Amino acid sequence: MAKTSWEDAAKWYDKIAQEKGHYYHQAVIMPKLKKLIKKSVLDLACGNGALAGNVKCDYVGLDVSKSLIRAAQKKHEGAEFYTKDVTKDLDLKRTFATATCILALQNIAEPEKVLQNAHKHLEDNGKLILVLNHPCFRIPRQSHWGIDNQKKLQYRRIERYMSEMEIPIQVGKVSLPSFHHPLSFYFDLLKKCGFLTVDVQEWCSDKKSTGGAAKMENRAREEFPLFLTIIAQKC
Ligand SMILES: C[S@@+](CC[C@H](N)C(=O)[O-])C[C@H]1O[C@@H](n2cnc3c(N)ncnc32)[C@H](O)[C@@H]1O
Repeated sequence: MAKTSWEDAAKWYDKIAQEKGHYYHQAVIMPKLKKLIKKSVLDLACGNGALAGNVKCDYVGLDVSKSLIRAAQKKHEGAEFYTKDVTKDLDLKRTFATATCILALQNIAEPEKVLQNAHKHLEDNGKLILVLNHPCFRIPRQSHWGIDNQKKLQYRRIERYMSEMEIPIQVGKVSLPSFHHPLSFYFDLLKKCGFLTVDVQEWCSDKKSTGGAAKMENRAREEFPLFLTIIAQKC
C-alpha cells in the first residue's frame, strides 16, 4: 500500500496552511463550508487543523501525520486532535452531526475505508462533506491550460479521465502519491457505503488577472471550477 502520510512534508504544509488555511481555504473553501457545518464535526485527514480555525463548534480532527497533529494542537485550543490513520478503526466512542474530508480523499489509497469510518461515526441523517480537487478538470499531470491564439481564449486540455490513476505529486520537497478517480467513482462509492448524495457544488477561484491576458484568464477561471464539493447524508 502506498505511504500517503504528509509527515515528510509537514513543516512545509504547516507553513503554507497556517492557522486558518492556505489561500484557497481562506478565500473559497472555508466561507462556504462554515455555512454547511453545524453542532459537531469529525474532520478526517485534517492536516494542521485549518477547519478548526474557521468553525465554532465541537471539533475533532484526525490525521496520520504526527507533526501536523502537533502543529494543530498548538494552534487550536479547545479543539481535539489525534494521530490516526483514517482508513483503520478510529477507536472513537462517539458520533458527529457532520464529517468532513477536505482536499484529502484524493491523497488516500483506500477511500472506501474513509467513507465507512465516516458512516460509522455520523449520527443518523448526519452529513458527510467531501471537498475534492475537481476530478474532471484538475488531474495531476493529465490536465493543463492551453491558449488558442486565434480565438483568444484559454482552454483546459484533459489527456486522461476515465482511468483510475496513481499519480505522484510534488509536496514541498517530497513526492507523494495522489489518486485520480472519475466522477462516477465517488457517487458509486457513496451509495455503496450507505450515503445518499443530497447536494453537489462546484467552487471557482476568486482570483482576478490584470494585464493583456486578463479577459481570457478571468473567463477561464469562471468556466473551470477548482473544487467539487459533495454533500451526502447517512442513511
Ligand atoms: C492535502 S492535505 C489536506 C489536509 C487538510 N484537510 C487541509 O485541508 O488542510 C492531505 C492530508 O491527508 C493526510 N493523510 C493521508 N493519508 C492519510 C490516512 N490514511 N489517514 C489519515 N490522514 C491521511 C495527510 O497526512 C495530509 O495531512
